[in-house]
Amino acid sequence: MVCLGNICRSPLAEGVMRDKIEKHKLNATVDSCGMGGWHVGEAPDYRARQTALAHGIDISRHKGRKFSRNDFDNFDIIYGMDKENYEDILALARTEQERQKVNMLMDELYPGQQRPIPDPYYGEMSDFENAWKMIDEACEAAARKLQVNDGN
Ligand code: 4NP
Repeated sequence: MVCLGNICRSPLAEGVMRDKIEKHKLNATVDSCGMGGWHVGEAPDYRARQTALAHGIDISRHKGRKFSRNDFDNFDIIYGMDKENYEDILALARTEQERQKVNMLMDELYPGQQRPIPDPYYGEMSDFENAWKMIDEACEAAARKLQVNDGN
């Protein structure tokens, strides 16, 4: 799960997806990072932590990390939260196989539409709640797809 700062959207997406992995008993792991390095080592934004907690998920232990080309080796699917993230990740891909791993999270719900999860950083709590809702629905769709592929 990749966004810009790795303190708002992608830590939420990591927390939501980890919960889906447990609930659907998937054989998968998830991590998150950002395309920018400003918040490396930091905990998620308090508004993201609060939004997650209100839905029963604790994301406070996450530490900000910057995207690295190694992520192409370590992960099978790489989700950008918006078009900018998506294109920045693609620009770092070295092979067609790596390019194939890159997707936009909302495309799990609306294939090919490249809908963004808007950045709530300069917004209000309602923007975080909106991001949560979009992320939750998209991760549920992603989890169901993985479940089919898992043969569960
Ligand atoms: P995120 O939000 O990409 O959802 O984590 C942002 C957080 C911080 C910054 C930008 C976006 N920033 O520029 O510091």
